[in-house]
Amino acid sequence: MNPSEQILHLREQIAHHNYAYYVEDNPRISDAQYDALYQQLVALEQANPELITSDSPTQRVGDQPLAGFVSVKHAVPMFSLGNAFNQEDLENFQKANLKLLPSLNTTYSAEPKMDGLAINLRYQDGLLTQATTRGDGSTGEDVTHNIRTIQSIPLKLSGTGWPAVLEVRGEVFMSKKTFNRLNQQQLEKDEKAFANPRNAAAGTLRQLDPRIAAKRQLSFYVYGWGEISDNWPMPSRYSYVIEQFKQWGLPTNPDAEVVEGALGMQTYYDALLLKRPNLPYEIDGIVYKVNDIASHKILGFTAKAPRWAIARKFPAEEVWTELLDIEIQVGRTGALTPVARLKPVAVGGVIVSNATLHNLDEITRKDVRVGDTVIVRRAGDVIPEVVGPVLSQRTENAPLFEMPQACPECDSEVIKEHDKAVYRCSGGLYCPAQRKRALQHFVSRKAFDIQGLGDKLIVQLADAELVKHPDDFFKLTVEQLANLERMAEKSARNVVEAIEQAKHTTLARFIYSLGIPEVGEVTAKNLAQHFITLAKIESADQASLVAVPDVGEIVAENIETFFKQAHNLEVIQGLIESGVNWPDPETQKVDEASPFNGKVVVLTGTLQQGSRTDAKKQLETLGAKVTGSISAKTDYLIAGENAGSKLTKAQALGVTVLTEQQWLEMIGTDNG
Ligand code: IVH
Repeated sequence: MNPSEQILHLREQIAHHNYAYYVEDNPRISDAQYDALYQQLVALEQANPELITSDSPTQRVGDQPLAGFVSVKHAVPMFSLGNAFNQEDLENFQKANLKLLPSLNTTYSAEPKMDGLAINLRYQDGLLTQATTRGDGSTGEDVTHNIRTIQSIPLKLSGTGWPAVLEVRGEVFMSKKTFNRLNQQQLEKDEKAFANPRNAAAGTLRQLDPRIAAKRQLSFYVYGWGEISDNWPMPSRYSYVIEQFKQWGLPTNPDAEVVEGALGMQTYYDALLLKRPNLPYEIDGIVYKVNDIASHKILGFTAKAPRWAIARKFPAEEVWTELLDIEIQVGRTGALTPVARLKPVAVGGVIVSNATLHNLDEITRKDVRVGDTVIVRRAGDVIPEVVGPVLSQRTENAPLFEMPQACPECDSEVIKEHDKAVYRCSGGLYCPAQRKRALQHFVSRKAFDIQGLGDKLIVQLADAELVKHPDDFFKLTVEQLANLERMAEKSARNVVEAIEQAKHTTLARFIYSLGIPEVGEVTAKNLAQHFITLAKIESADQASLVAVPDVGEIVAENIETFFKQAHNLEVIQGLIESGVNWPDPETQKVDEASPFNGKVVVLTGTLQQGSRTDAKKQLETLGAKVTGSISAKTDYLIAGENAGSKLTKAQALGVTVLTEQQWLEMIGTDNG
């Protein structure tokens, strides 16, 4: 064999053993033998670099982080699913379909509903070319660099007969085992544990550096498809298509089954519910799909979901545990939140030891008392909640909970907010808890985004009085940091470097970081876009503030009050003097990462959040071209209330239509 043939042969062998190991969980060779094959390939490729191609297993993990994520419009939209909560809902699902199609064959593919993230994988001529997240269903983000690191996903399809274009869809998830190991490592590194496997998987795909995903070991099961070349002879059954995907080396869920009618759906449900605790991955229900594909076209879609598929949700898991204490947490703005300290208990796949009790009214309504046995519930992605006490277990004289009259952190007077359930510490920045929260907010991801400055480190810095106000971060030295407990010189150096880099920010992030009550990320962006300079925001009066989209009277008042206070102005001055800066408005570029950059957008109908002129300005800052009429060139129509002919025309031309809410979500979340 010449080197080229040898390389191809090795790649095939490695792909085959990958499948045996990662998909079948049934390795045929030892790790050492696998490594030997791999090293042989590495050596051959090094000697013949011209033979390296992107589908080689040596090329899974790139060594350069991306600069940012790129938005990709899906060739076929990614839908969500309707929900069924009980057997009756499933029977109605079948009845409704039989009404539309009396000859319907009521055989279904039943599959676990994986608790991860939907991903579209595009194969061109058998090679993986792109992987995208679901996003809003019509546009997602390119995460190819991270998806390529998933060992069970073939970079090249095996076998023959695949269509020139094949998009498969499925769920990327993290197994329970990997999740537990990752969280253990996070804690050892003094980093935050992930709440559940789904968040861990999402957090991993959001990384720009593929080396992180490679370490974290995600999994994938295919459950559907997107665009497929027209000339491919699609099998007649859903389950046959999935079987074909399996033949091409794609991982499929071994727990899927074909079931018969409503009764079959019920039987599968009962069995899977029993199996659930022992499955190696988290699920939040079951998906049933009409198996006959010809019927899919006839049944079609509702606005959001296919009529031929439905998700049956599992009930939220409930457990009993002991309420050890009710502690008071003091938030950034002084609000006191009672938190239940629970005897640690596993529920819905995570160990729960705290749950918020929100406020006094909630505690009174539920009548929970320290010492009670309480019911704790957690459904899917939802944060754990204390449902209520188990009264039969209550001991006599269990004390009623009362809010403290003095702040547990600084002893300042606690004031009950007029007309609201909120109790607040009146200590302001004198209160160490409020100060710590404000500092944590200042460095958080959407604010100054200083890597390495975790919550615990901030508490240490505040307790050591090294940082009192945000501008103090910029005065920290390597020595000061290295002197702290659990801090190595190298980490100290990294932190100081990250702080130095964080000095270059944007006006929007700067405003957000100040923590003005009720000024969130979106409002901060709007303020920056509207006023362009900090000086103008500082001196703005009520009337000019309420002209900004998203700013009402209360927020305007908060902003004005904030900039009137001398100590706030001092902090701002201190920050600027430390070298904090943002691009000059003249040279400010459009937001290139925005999903609207370079897009042609039309606005129609009445918008709730402000005028169309505001919306137009905002879109233009995001790099969009806003035009007045719909054509085939239009990328998006944003349709407010009572949209008329433009909406009809857009639908006729297949232009993506966004509701105002969808639009706000696209610009409001995570593009900062
Ligand atoms: S089918 C048009 N099958 O559930 C049908 N979805 O609410 C699209 N999911 O975003 C989905 N396991 O992320 C399907 N076996 C499965 C699934 C599954 C998990 C997720 C998927 C989707 C969401 C739908």
